[in-house]
Amino acid sequence: MAKKCLITGASRGIGRALAIEMAKKDYILALTGRNKRLLEEVREEIVGRLPSAHVEIAELDVTDYEQVLDIVDDFEQSLGGLDIVVANAGISVSKPIGVGAFKDHKSVIETNVLGLMATAEAIIPYFKEKNEGQFVAISSVAAFRGLPKHSSYSASKVAVKSYMESLSTELIDSNIKTTTLFPGYIDTEINQHMPSRPFLIPVQEGAKIMLELIEKGVKTSTVPKRPWNVVGQLMKTLPESVIAKMS
Ligand SMILES: NC(=O)c1ccc[n+]([C@@H]2O[C@H](COP(=O)([O-])OP(=O)(O)OC[C@H]3O[C@@H](n4cnc5c(N)ncnc54)[C@H](OP(=O)(O)O)[C@@H]3O)[C@@H](O)[C@H]2O)c1
Repeated sequence: MAKKCLITGASRGIGRALAIEMAKKDYILALTGRNKRLLEEVREEIVGRLPSAHVEIAELDVTDYEQVLDIVDDFEQSLGGLDIVVANAGISVSKPIGVGAFKDHKSVIETNVLGLMATAEAIIPYFKEKNEGQFVAISSVAAFRGLPKHSSYSASKVAVKSYMESLSTELIDSNIKTTTLFPGYIDTEINQHMPSRPFLIPVQEGAKIMLELIEKGVKTSTVPKRPWNVVGQLMKTLPESVIAKMS
């Protein structure tokens, strides 16, 4: 039977590309994001290519934490259950600490951390009820080391890593899977302003790798696995003078 997957932040970038890859493999999709028009375009694009695809959309700002509960409830009822939820919605800010950008940094934490936690709070009770399901979180290699000018982003992605470790341990005796992905540089708007994007890969390639990892049910992985599995470890020990030149 076709699996049902909800993706947050599916209007652009990785979420959109992942939706396209999943549609090719007959997943039933519940796509959410803040921009309804962009979500409609994603749905039209998918159904244009794959007329039998089943794609539903809903406007959802993951920082509207009550609304996250409502939308997940709605899709649970209308689709008759969700098998996979991908907490993908995320933002980044490229500003040093102490330049009056507290509001921007606060938004990063509200979206990347609290938005993901609200998504987990909404779906985990349903997964527990049927003792199955998979919760996928998109962290980042920025979780491996606090990057200059990206303090809130690195902090948010460490928080996601830690939160997912707790969730995974809480679910140890269940059939519910958790998957935490740590992408390197994937070509999307979130990083297109950056002067250097080492080991950059196109978004559709990134999405294909992510779907493979999700389907394998891996607990954690960098994306792509190589070279970031090695580079990620190196990042933890590189001298500050080297890290200071990044971003
Ligand atoms: N690209 C990379 O190299 C990379 C690397 C590591 C991790 N990641 C992570 O991958 C995820 C996706 O990023 P991306 O590269 O695809 O970035 P992107 O192209 O900027 O897309 C971000 C997506 O998140 C959505 N979003 C932002 N704020 C939201 C909110 N408050 N509520 C709901 N949706 C929201 C955006 O939709 P709307 O603006 O239309 O609402 C958009 O669909 C993020 O968590 C990011 O941190 C990306």
